[in-house]
Amino acid sequence: MAPPEPEPEEIRARLERAGQSHLLRFWAELQPAERDSLRAALAPLLEAEELGPHCRRAAAEARARQPGPLERLDRRMQPVPGEFLGSVSRSERAALARWEAEGFHQISENKVAVLLLAGGQGTRLGVTYPKGMYSVGLPSGKTLYQIQAERIRKLEQLAGKKYSTKCSIPWYIMTSEFTLGPTEKFFTEHNYFNLDKTNVIMFEQRMLPAVTFDGKAILEQKGKIAMAPDGNGGLYRALVDNKILDDMERRGIQYIHVYCVDNILVKMADPIFIGFCVSKGADCGAKVVEKAYPTEPVGVVCRVDGVYQVVEYSEINLETAQMRSPDGQLVYSAGNICNHFFTLDFLETVAQKFESQLKQHVAIKKVAYVDEEGNLVKPLKPNGIKLEKFVFDVFQFSKNFVAFEVLREEEFSPLKNADTADTDTPTTARRSLLSQHYRWALKAGARFLDEKGCRIPEKLNLSGIEDPPAVCEISPLVSYFGEGLETHMKTKDFYSPFILDESKTEILEDA
Ligand code: UD1
Repeated sequence: MAPPEPEPEEIRARLERAGQSHLLRFWAELQPAERDSLRAALAPLLEAEELGPHCRRAAAEARARQPGPLERLDRRMQPVPGEFLGSVSRSERAALARWEAEGFHQISENKVAVLLLAGGQGTRLGVTYPKGMYSVGLPSGKTLYQIQAERIRKLEQLAGKKYSTKCSIPWYIMTSEFTLGPTEKFFTEHNYFNLDKTNVIMFEQRMLPAVTFDGKAILEQKGKIAMAPDGNGGLYRALVDNKILDDMERRGIQYIHVYCVDNILVKMADPIFIGFCVSKGADCGAKVVEKAYPTEPVGVVCRVDGVYQVVEYSEINLETAQMRSPDGQLVYSAGNICNHFFTLDFLETVAQKFESQLKQHVAIKKVAYVDEEGNLVKPLKPNGIKLEKFVFDVFQFSKNFVAFEVLREEEFSPLKNADTADTDTPTTARRSLLSQHYRWALKAGARFLDEKGCRIPEKLNLSGIEDPPAVCEISPLVSYFGEGLETHMKTKDFYSPFILDESKTEILEDA
């Protein structure tokens, strides 16, 4: 048998300085491959001398957080001023058309990119693979990734047609150690959903160790540190680590639409939102929906001491949450849906100057670990601290921030939970999409028949908690947002369930 590999003295010395030498406790027992992977995990943390400060900060943040009341922000809050809050429902048609035209113009000049935040673990949904690979049970069986890819393709076609150009919308996908491998494999297996592969750029965010309450990084196996992605605000470091900003610059990108993976209704690179932000000269913007009810658990986009930020629902009291203006609207109604607009200049400034100032949010979790004897322990009580940065915490650095309110039923239905929950489940996501497509079809003049050929009575006002009376799924390759459907559907009868995809459009046009 080969003699045991010598202990890397350099690593040991650095770990000692960081107060983390316990991480080598089982070194003598590790196989060569396990040693290599432990060394690889430690290298970036030790290189930047970040391990010690990270562990100390995690313990201090957790201590500062409890016990004691949460800091209430109520008295320091103000809503987004009207002049910086656009709205789909309260704007004139002409204004919406102007913004849309501006957005299409920017897209046609290849200045717009989309950036997907897909490094999360999807713990609440309870799947072991990336959420984007999830299929909510649509008649077509499409996954979230496929729907998003097809929306990009359609938008490229629409913008290209309007301006007689060949246009592309690069798709940047931030993954993490958990999601990169399976996401790449999935895209390869599906031929990148017929997108130009060179325009799909995947990159990885950093991981951080989970830490005990006394500031020690946790070993989840004898040779493996318990690591978690550094939050969706890890984006700003990842952009630098992976030279993504340079890539954007090379491609001439100026505007970036950042969004999260789980909203089945997401309007990627939405020309109206892009056009609104560009017209207002914004460097940073957020799409919001009107809160459904005062205590709805979504963050609120507002100002605190005059500075823009998202205040989580847990940080305001009921009275503030329930405050209404004279017209009956909730004063703090701008619910964050994790859809953000940034100029490239703004992202560059954040990356260069402000990233290190972003707040560290504390999450206390149950983290499995090996005890001093090397036994695996699954704790019954939370024992670990995870620190995360949030993508919206950069709003405070904006010089010209805008918010844009859109209709929930058209643009927001997130998939967070398994079907055992009441809200934000595969069932609610599927229902939202099929209800939207049903509305689009009716508006285009379609009629639906049941299996016996009888007309299905129309229902215009769907409550959101019921399925539409007829099932009609429209491929994003046919329509991005309900446009162009009359040619295929006006005064025509369709048997429910019906899938309108590209293969059917020619037949329908000839009929
Ligand atoms: C997020 C918003 C919340 C908003 C809600 C709407 C944040 C911090 N919170 O909450 O204000 O009301 O969406 O649906 O944005 N992700 C990463 N890396 C990570 C962690 C997460 O890329 O380290 C990605 C996820 O894959 C997902 C997105 O960020 O696409 C949102 O993360 P999630 O943890 O689901 O945030 P929510 O708590 O749902």
